[in-house]
Amino acid sequence: MATFGERISHFFSGNDQETQEGLHGLFVTELKNIYYAEKQAVDALGMQADAATTDEVRNAFLQHQEESRGQVMRLEQVFQNLGLTPDKGSCAAIDGLADDAEMVVSNTESGSLTRDAGLIIAAQKVEHHEIASYGSAVTLAQVMGHTEVARLLEQTLEEEKNTDRKLTKLAESFINDRANDESGNTNSSSSNTNSGGTVQADGTRYTDQSSSGQTYQSGQSYSGTQTGSSDATLGGTMGI
Ligand SMILES: [Fe+2]
Repeated sequence: MATFGERISHFFSGNDQETQEGLHGLFVTELKNIYYAEKQAVDALGMQADAATTDEVRNAFLQHQEESRGQVMRLEQVFQNLGLTPDKGSCAAIDGLADDAEMVVSNTESGSLTRDAGLIIAAQKVEHHEIASYGSAVTLAQVMGHTEVARLLEQTLEEEKNTDRKLTKLAESFINDRANDESGNTNSSSSNTNSGGTVQADGTRYTDQSSSGQTYQSGQSYSGTQTGSSDATLGGTMGI
């Protein structure tokens, strides 16, 4: 029986039959879960587009919905390339993220900019999940020598990163415009309490029920948990 060291050595030289089979099973499970998640994302993006306030955000969601349909087809190509029938797995993460997006809609007023801010946050959480999923799948495909499959998955990975960057830009321009409008129309600073309390310059508020009732207002930095000064604004999560 091979020692652990020998197994590692065989793994990196691509000669470890036992590991390859284990990785193959893991890879197929991951692909099925991504396939499920991608289809869920197509549905969720339609709901989010319907709920969006501005044309910019609505169009961003509709564009990515169309792109996601293409990504579903690309995954079907991946299954075909591996000699498998496309099959949906499950993904509790994407189900939860879709629920979070629905909660944004039910917690914000129709027609408010706060709703768009919340929807962009929700969409970026999905993108980051997809980036992690496709990134891992690309690595597994490369390790197992599925060159064409790795190329297809990498194509989608780049699209997801690009969408995340677009959402960041949209959020930043949205925040800046909103802040500019507010500074011209109201003196909002005196009514703000940016320490986790309510912020009420224009009466719109958003309560993030998943993080102990923190509240933020569109046009303001998120008043909940911040991990670094460079992430101080909505859409500032793009460190990839
Ligand atoms: Fe996607």
